[in-house]
Amino acid sequence: MDPSDTIRAPRGTFDLTGETLARVEAVESAAREVFFRFGYREIRTPYFEETRLFGRAIGETSDVVEKEMFSIPRDGESYSLRPEGTASVVRHYVENSLASAAPFQKFSYVGAMFRYERPQAGRQRQFHQVGAEVLGSANPLLDAEMILLQDRFFRALGLSGQQVKVNSIGSREERPAVRARLLDLLRPAAGRLCENCVRRMERNVFRVLDCKNPGCREVSRALPPVEDLLSADSRRRYEAVLEALAGEGITFVKDPLLVRGLDYYTHTVFETVHPALGARDAICGGGRYDGLVEDLGGPATPAAGFAVGVESTLLAMQKLGATPNVPERAPDFFVVAVDDSVRGAAFRLLMELRDAGLAGEADFEGRSLKAQMKKAGRLNARHALILGPGEVERGVVTVRILAAGEQTEVPRAEVVGRLRGAR
Ligand code: HAM
Repeated sequence: MDPSDTIRAPRGTFDLTGETLARVEAVESAAREVFFRFGYREIRTPYFEETRLFGRAIGETSDVVEKEMFSIPRDGESYSLRPEGTASVVRHYVENSLASAAPFQKFSYVGAMFRYERPQAGRQRQFHQVGAEVLGSANPLLDAEMILLQDRFFRALGLSGQQVKVNSIGSREERPAVRARLLDLLRPAAGRLCENCVRRMERNVFRVLDCKNPGCREVSRALPPVEDLLSADSRRRYEAVLEALAGEGITFVKDPLLVRGLDYYTHTVFETVHPALGARDAICGGGRYDGLVEDLGGPATPAAGFAVGVESTLLAMQKLGATPNVPERAPDFFVVAVDDSVRGAAFRLLMELRDAGLAGEADFEGRSLKAQMKKAGRLNARHALILGPGEVERGVVTVRILAAGEQTEVPRAEVVGRLRGAR
């Protein structure tokens, strides 16, 4: 076969194996632990949804919906692989009428998301997020809880050096007035904005604040902070969030230019960045989204949430030379068959021990005795269980503790007890 014809994993996707998988799992299990501690319970939503869910939730003009969706036409419908988790959680909330049954709900999720982005360090087309969403309360303490939750999660992982940026973009109701004011302020400077921003100005003026172009940044920095354009109520609300955070041992900066790229946000928005990552430095993003339940057909319901990028987090840790705590898992044993006449007996021993709850392996490749011992070492097995015709005849097994290099003959019936005792 032509070697260029080899089928590879699609660009921007990766097979997770060995150490890499162990790290992803360690991040996910740290998240599950902290989510549970904070009262969030796991939800698993489908990997694909009707495309219009994301259009309606995230915004038809957002980059995610406009450029980054994996969409699949089927039977006259269009489905899309989920680019994020919030839309599905809210769809679930509305579909099950939770607003009337039990309006206050806390959800968490862990899993793969899909975005058709240009692959680069920490940016993939299939990536993983861990996230939390709380619905049914407008209490500013919950905005603070979200920011503290992701902070405690990063701490549990052992990540340091990250920075939390917070802003408020006000309520839906005041948005038109704020937008008009921003437009008034920006129009005279339109000549200094990039082409993209000139287009954005009319469609979603907030995104101009988000532009990384140096010229646009300069214009944005000269504007009064969005916070100053908000109503007194919204400003008070923002103050309450900041006050709740201040008492809880977390450092954050107010970033008046932080607006986020998804359209559902209201009031508090936040992002956690890590300076070790370079241009795409966000490891977590979130905020309040008080209008989304209504947008998806439910009654007006306040809500807030965030999601952490697992790969971005691991990349930041790697740059710091840190690794998440991966629990050491060594097999209890490796059965070594001295010659081919005992392969059947070795297989029976292997299965008996596995059925007793022990973890182990044997040779299936017809390796020599020496090569089997080597393999046992490579697998980091605690014991080599050596079985030859002599052992079979005497009803014993030679148990070798690999780390110590000591071995004794153990009656076959006592092997399980011996290995369990060594755990
Ligand atoms: P987001 O900011 O789009 O927010 O994504 C959250 C995090 O996911 C990012 O900070 C980044 O670390 C990671 N991420 C995003 N795209 C990629 C990619 N292509 N490759 C690798 N990592 C990526 C959300 O998704 C919102 N749903 C968060 C939220 C929940 N807001 C309220 N509730």
